[in-house]
Amino acid sequence: MIKLLVLGPTGVMGKLISELALKDDEIDIVAACDIINLGDKLESIVAVKDSKNIIITDVNNLQKVIDQTKPEVAVDFTVAAATEKNCLICAKNGIRCVIGTTALSQEFLNEFENLVKNYQVPSVISPNMATGVNILFKTASTLTNYLNDWDIEVIEAHHHRKIDAPSGTALKIGQIISNSLGSDFEQIVKFGRNRGPNKRLIGGKNELGFHSIRAGDIVGDHIILYAGPGERIELKHQAHSRYCFAEGAIKAIKFITQVKEAKIYSTSEVLGF
Ligand SMILES: NC(=O)c1ccc[n+]([C@@H]2O[C@H](COP(=O)([O-])OP(=O)(O)OC[C@H]3O[C@@H](n4cnc5c(N)ncnc54)[C@H](O)[C@@H]3O)[C@@H](O)[C@H]2O)c1
Repeated sequence: MIKLLVLGPTGVMGKLISELALKDDEIDIVAACDIINLGDKLESIVAVKDSKNIIITDVNNLQKVIDQTKPEVAVDFTVAAATEKNCLICAKNGIRCVIGTTALSQEFLNEFENLVKNYQVPSVISPNMATGVNILFKTASTLTNYLNDWDIEVIEAHHHRKIDAPSGTALKIGQIISNSLGSDFEQIVKFGRNRGPNKRLIGGKNELGFHSIRAGDIVGDHIILYAGPGERIELKHQAHSRYCFAEGAIKAIKFITQVKEAKIYSTSEVLGF
């Protein structure tokens, strides 16, 4: 059984991951830490019977919780400021991390990567753990190789509670496209547009446009638009339910206990693409 620490169990994603983990024969939730619902039973939050009666505890006591419960893996879908603190603590305690939180800073990513090597804690960081989106990443790379002189725009839509924009997934798509174009992402990216005309050339390179929609309860849509002379292709992924992300997180939890090399893995690696 994999001894799991859930960070952010009361969040939309944290609840789904806790539900799937409680139902999974290979996973044993040993602790759940948050900043709200402290003292509540996890089963009252996720509506799944929990024979261990896990109580939601204060994340500010994380070190004490780790000392008492000895988790092997931590799963974190919270907010960047929390992840950047709590996952450093986990890594320093030899706990392998599965991180789905988006908008993480480059400073954190650098520091975390060093800890992964120094403390030998393989971990997963992925802005999107859905299978289909990771196929979209692969497809975008291939398509961009063929269509590198076409105009490319990334359009994403999410629910109005989402904190970051563009989404972590859209940014990853941007990195993949830039790599295929042989361009520096920061040099060609164009977030949103003002009144026109909008010339598409930045420093002699065709720009890569991003557009974010925040509305209602949209789970997550991503479109990559390739437009050439007289024709266009749209690659589109739509998440209908957050279970596609939660199931990806469960796969990542199981995968990360099996690997030896101390590095940061992607969902593509988890899924073996
Ligand atoms: N990687 C993926 O596949 C994927 C999919 C969906 C969402 N996300 C990302 O996951 C994150 C969470 O999304 P959500 O919709 O569940 O958000 P949410 O607002 O519903 O949940 C956030 C949770 O974090 C908790 N939290 C806040 N500060 C904390 C702290 N210091 N320590 C522990 N917990 C703390 C909150 O109490 C809440 O329970 C976001 O960054 C989102 O972009 C990733």
